[in-house]
Amino acid sequence: MSLITEDNSWKYSSVLNNKNYNFNKDKILKILSKNDIDEAYNIISLWDGYISTPLISLNKLSKELKLNKIFYKDESKRFGLKSFKALGGAYAVQKISKNKKDIIISTATAGNHGRSVAWGSKKLGLKCKIFISEHVSESRAKVMRNFGADIIRVKGNYENSLNECIKKSNENNWQIIQDVAWQDYKLVPKLTMAGYSVMMKEISEQIKKQQISHVILQAGVGGMAAAMVAGIARYLNHVPKIIIVEPESAACVLESIKSGKIEKISIEKESLMGGMSCGEVSLIPWEILKNSVSDCVTVSDDYISKTIKFLANCKFSDKKIIGGECATPGIISLIGLCNDVEIKKKINLNEVSNVLLFGCEGDADEELYQKLLNL
Ligand SMILES: Cc1ncc(COP(=O)(O)O)c(C=O)c1O
Repeated sequence: MSLITEDNSWKYSSVLNNKNYNFNKDKILKILSKNDIDEAYNIISLWDGYISTPLISLNKLSKELKLNKIFYKDESKRFGLKSFKALGGAYAVQKISKNKKDIIISTATAGNHGRSVAWGSKKLGLKCKIFISEHVSESRAKVMRNFGADIIRVKGNYENSLNECIKKSNENNWQIIQDVAWQDYKLVPKLTMAGYSVMMKEISEQIKKQQISHVILQAGVGGMAAAMVAGIARYLNHVPKIIIVEPESAACVLESIKSGKIEKISIEKESLMGGMSCGEVSLIPWEILKNSVSDCVTVSDDYISKTIKFLANCKFSDKKIIGGECATPGIISLIGLCNDVEIKKKINLNEVSNVLLFGCEGDADEELYQKLLNL
């Protein structure tokens, strides 16, 4: 039975080709080095409970879209933390704390990064202060509290929570573990990216000898996407077409790629994809993404609930998949791109394509997941 062709309404919102595309492996690995990447894998793979997350075939969807294969990296299974973010913040806490026990960790978060930092701090017996905006759900706050973190709510958006975190951390000499970079704060975001790159190491082993032709990478501030690009440079022999997907209301990477420089955008309406609702690409990711991304695409929130249900009800694959809101835009954009015959042809999506997608999170926000599943 046809899911998508019967309902041709799945659309992307906008698409942009990068005029400055020029993938340069050496340049990328100068920004996030082979040593950074290898050290992260060597350390993280020794953590208790470490196991590769599944790479699932969305065989029903690839058949319907007339593509060869679609691989879905299922991060709902990452260390019981339910998102790839488990790899970044906790790794940075370990590297920065250097076995010291008398430091206090702090961070600002939309949810999953803070969960990783709280978890990493708890493992090392460190105190942890986490700043969240009014948009972060209580259900997410509770999980971080359960890891022993003090939660500080800040009025306004993510940026307000970050500013407050920086202010209080400077006053109290707390060690900030942030996943975004600013002037003179680049080491920690680099470490979080090195942690994320473990996903690409696993994928390079899971695909065996198969070549990936296209990869669609979600972006908020671009850390995850840039880490995957560095992982591609480090681990893959064949460079796939690299496509960035963002919420239409927070397309800061697309706007920056369009003008060739970092553009700050104002977010009029927060996307349901909370972790991706960011107004400015981070400095280090930008250095990697600006020439290695081939295309950018944006999607609305309209298909999130349907995608979550289809994942859960085995409509895309033989296996039931728990994918939260940020796990959906890769699938939504891929269907949208394939429904546009001209674009599909232009970006070479066809019967020999092997597409890699990231299921970035599971039901990390359980309440929201249940709501979207049952809409
Ligand atoms: C839960 C979650 N948070 C954040 C992001 C964005 O990551 P970054 O801010 O590193 O681009 C993603 C990416 O999809 C995500 O799934």
